[in-house]
Amino acid sequence: MRVLGIESSCDETAAAIVEDGRRVLADKVASQIPVHARYGGVVPELASRNHIIEILPIIQACLDEAQMTLDQIDGIGVAAGPGLVGSLLVGVEVAKALAYSINKPLVGVNHIEGHLMAPLLDYDGPEGISGTPQFPFVGLVVSGGHTHLYRVDGVGQYSVLGATRDDAAGEAFDKVAKMLGLPYPGGVYIDRAAKEGRKDAIRFPRALPQKTNFDFSFSGVKTSVLTHLKKLERPPEPHEQHFADICASFQEAVVEVLVNKTFRAARDQRVKDVVISGGVSANSRLRQRALQVATSNNINVHIPPLHLCTDNATMIAALAHHYLPPASPENAFTNFQLNASSRQAFGKITG
Ligand code: KG4
Ligand code: ZN
Repeated sequence: MRVLGIESSCDETAAAIVEDGRRVLADKVASQIPVHARYGGVVPELASRNHIIEILPIIQACLDEAQMTLDQIDGIGVAAGPGLVGSLLVGVEVAKALAYSINKPLVGVNHIEGHLMAPLLDYDGPEGISGTPQFPFVGLVVSGGHTHLYRVDGVGQYSVLGATRDDAAGEAFDKVAKMLGLPYPGGVYIDRAAKEGRKDAIRFPRALPQKTNFDFSFSGVKTSVLTHLKKLERPPEPHEQHFADICASFQEAVVEVLVNKTFRAARDQRVKDVVISGGVSANSRLRQRALQVATSNNINVHIPPLHLCTDNATMIAALAHHYLPPASPENAFTNFQLNASSRQAFGKITG
C-alpha cells in the first residue's frame, strides 16, 4: 500500500510517498523561508502563491525518487487543517484533482495528528530518538502554532491532557528571536546561540507549575525577556556573552516546563512511552533534557529525526495510511466535497 502525502498548511510545500504507513520511499520539502524571512513572518498570500508554483514539481520529484508513476499510487492523503486556509486549499485541490485522475481514494488528515503520530514511521540513524512507541503513550506536540499534551490510546483515539493558554512554544521562540534581532523563524537561531550561553544566567519565570496542571503558558516568559532587554543600556549583540546567556536562559525556561509537564503526565497516566514532535522538538536542549529525564524515570522517549519534526508530508502519508482502505474501508470513495479548515479537530478526542 503506497500512499502519496501532500502538506501545504503553512510555509512548506511538501510531498512524500510512504509504503505500508512506515517505510519512506520519497520525501521532499520546498521551504519558503527565504520568501517570508524579509517580512519577519509568514505572509499568507505569498505562501499560497508559492505553494501553487511548487506543488506539482515537488510531487513529480517524489515520484521520480521512488521510481514510480502516479497510477502506481494506491491512495492519497492531504493535510486539510489546521493551518492557513489559502495554503491548505492548494494542497487539498491538487490532491482532489490527482485522486480523480487516477481514480484512487483520497483522505484529508489533520496536520497536528500527523506530527503526533510521526514517530510511528520507520526511521533510524543517530538523529532520531527511535524505537516504535507502544500504545498508550503521552504525546507532546510542540510547534509554531501548537503546544498540546495528549494521551494516545491508538490511531484516532486521543484525550487532551493540556494545552497552551496563550502563545505556542514555537511562537514564543520566534517572538523572542525577533526581539533579539534574529532572523525568522527564530527557534533554530536561539538554539544555536544558546549553545554558547549559561542557562542559569537569568531566572525567567516558569508558568503554571502546579503538579496537577498540564496546561502551558508562554506569554509571561516572553514578556520577561522583553522587560530584561528594556533594562539594558543597549541591545545585546549576537557575539556578546550576554546575548548567548539570554538565549540559553529563555530556552531553559521553556524546555524545563515542556519536559516536566510531559513526564509528569506520563507518570500520572501510568504510561511507559512518551512522544515529542512538532517543529520545536528539533530543539537540541529539549531533546537532551527529554532523554535524560526519560532515562531517570525509566520511560521510553520517541522524538523523530529533525526533518520529521518540522513540517513534512511523510507524516501526512503515514497517517493517511490508517484512514485509507484497507485499514479504513469506509473511506474507499473520495469525498470531493473535502475542504480545507483553518481550525480542524482530529480523531475521537475525549477529555
Ligand atoms: O511544526 P513546524 O515546522 O510548523 C508548525 O506547524 O508550526 O514548527 C515550526 C516552529 C517554529 O516556531 C520554529 O521556530 C520552531 O518550530 N523550531 C524550533 C527549532 N526548530 C524549529 N524551535 C526551537 N529550537 C529549534 N531548533
Ligand atoms: Zn507543523
